[in-house]
Amino acid sequence: MTATLTKVPPILNHLFSVSGKNVLITGGSRGIGLMIAKNFVQAGANVLLTSRSEEACKEAAQSIQSQYVASNVANREGCEALARHVAQVFDNRLDVLINNAGTSWGEPLDRKSGKANWGFDKVFDLNVKGMFYLTQACIPLLQNAATPDNPARVINVGSIVGLIPQSAPTHAYDASKAAVHSLTKKLAADLARQHITVNALAPGFVQTRMTQGLESWGATPEKVAQTIPLQRWGNEDDMTGACIYFSSRAGAWCTGVILNVDGGAVGAIQVQLDSKL
Ligand SMILES: NC(=O)c1ccc[n+]([C@@H]2O[C@H](COP(=O)([O-])OP(=O)(O)OC[C@H]3O[C@@H](n4cnc5c(N)ncnc54)[C@H](OP(=O)(O)O)[C@@H]3O)[C@@H](O)[C@H]2O)c1
Repeated sequence: MTATLTKVPPILNHLFSVSGKNVLITGGSRGIGLMIAKNFVQAGANVLLTSRSEEACKEAAQSIQSQYVASNVANREGCEALARHVAQVFDNRLDVLINNAGTSWGEPLDRKSGKANWGFDKVFDLNVKGMFYLTQACIPLLQNAATPDNPARVINVGSIVGLIPQSAPTHAYDASKAAVHSLTKKLAADLARQHITVNALAPGFVQTRMTQGLESWGATPEKVAQTIPLQRWGNEDDMTGACIYFSSRAGAWCTGVILNVDGGAVGAIQVQLDSKL
């Protein structure tokens, strides 16, 4: 018989609480960022979400009762301006930085877009350089929140395509996510003695605006689900659960980790490779 829990047992509160934490989520106006932002607000965190569109940020923030600010984190100035704003809003103290904003671009190798290098630059400017510059700019604020028992946290949203490139012509995107994973490990080593952990979430397929482009390559939602060992797309609980772990007491001794949250996709590809030996 399954008992229905009416009260959260103290051990779960102790391990998984993010209540009262100051949390900045980039790309929080829609998709995975908004999923995480919504659930962190419900868990009692003070969430500041951001993206470029003021209107989209405002609408998202109103729908989940969070704070918001419009900003572009694809350049150093934008990252530094955002960090100054965060310092004001959170009184110089940031417990959790979630570097989630990301963009993709696909183009066959034998076709070159009108603007030279445009797609490649766009992807690297946001996914890699922006992630690095924002983290750098937020270090003083993270230091103010960090203690040996309760480190400040940085969570980077990578991707399974940073581990195993996909078949679509997304050269810049796949390489950018491999760079995110690499920077995660390097920053984790740099910041550990300052009691700041740095981990990455490597999601598999989650239905958002970004994955709408898959259909143009003939990948319907049903076909995609069939390729995933657990036979479904990732969802809000999957994304939030990993971030809650990295942000709470439960994940306090964990740094430099790339966590695949992918329904078994990466494991299955590795097993297929082995089976051909
Ligand atoms: N969906 C998936 O299957 C999947 C799988 C693996 C990894 N990921 C990663 O998960 C993260 C979120 O992706 P998503 O699927 O939720 O995508 P999405 O729905 O396209 O959302 C992207 C978010 O980033 C913001 N953004 C874009 N450019 C920005 C910029 N220059 N400065 C600030 N914010 C910017 C967007 O808002 P504005 O346009 O208003 O700026 C939006 O809020 C990305 O890093 C992505 O690579 C996604």
